[in-house]
Amino acid sequence: MPEIDWNRERWDVAHQWDLEGDEWSGMADHCGQSYQDWKSALIIELLHPDLGQDRDILEVAPGHGRFTVEMVDNCRSLTLVDLSPTCLEVCRSRFGDDGQVRYIETDGTSLPGVLDESIDFIWSFDSFVHMERGVIDAYLAEFARVLRPEGRFVIHHAGKREWSLRAVPLTRKLGAPGRVVQRLMSQGRLRDSGCRADVSAGLVGRLVATHGLEVVEQRNAWGAHGEFDLSKFGDVITVGRKP
Ligand SMILES: C[S@@+](CC[C@H](N)C(=O)[O-])C[C@H]1O[C@@H](n2cnc3c(N)ncnc32)[C@H](O)[C@@H]1O
Repeated sequence: MPEIDWNRERWDVAHQWDLEGDEWSGMADHCGQSYQDWKSALIIELLHPDLGQDRDILEVAPGHGRFTVEMVDNCRSLTLVDLSPTCLEVCRSRFGDDGQVRYIETDGTSLPGVLDESIDFIWSFDSFVHMERGVIDAYLAEFARVLRPEGRFVIHHAGKREWSLRAVPLTRKLGAPGRVVQRLMSQGRLRDSGCRADVSAGLVGRLVATHGLEVVEQRNAWGAHGEFDLSKFGDVITVGRKP
């Protein structure tokens, strides 16, 4: 199960970032689509509509800026929050230090220094998938604090089968065989799940509501015909808003 320390070590130290995040082409491969088409369609459908020169944007966990590059010239201000100091330094070297972009190192659960009701839109792709329930809960509390009324967020997270999560306390005690059984039940897979957290779409929806936020939609595909989808990974994108 991906804890905060696992994430820090993995993304700050171990991962090589050969293409600044564009090395993760497996989701596009699974759809039988080119990576560029997959990424462009995602950006056009789920990121661009919430950008604009009058908008204050926040990205949780930008990594090396795979999606940040789309935001930096299309907002009033951009706040990047990451667990990894190395990732933040790479973003700083890519996107500059002129005051329009802020770089914030987090403890993995909070948005330190981000003022109440100061943000119009929050984006996070390929990062909440590695965050467990408690971390997501803490971030959603922060979203409720920093978003302006009518502010929106888009987060891509794990979406395991709801019923299978009840077995987690037992399968965790069984070591490697338990992990295989849990993957089979929660994702229908024998092999590694890409270190997905043990959360479901329903659980994330309930956590959103707990913090006075609203789910606009939950989906696992985009494109005119739903041709880009996350089904192999069992992931979900939750679009939410602050009333
Ligand atoms: C797989 S990379 C994805 C990076 C980027 N979003 C992309 O799609 O290329 C995961 C990122 O999440 C960050 N991360 C993981 N857990 C985090 C947490 N609890 N709080 C903030 N950042 C976190 C890592 O440091 C890393 O930058």
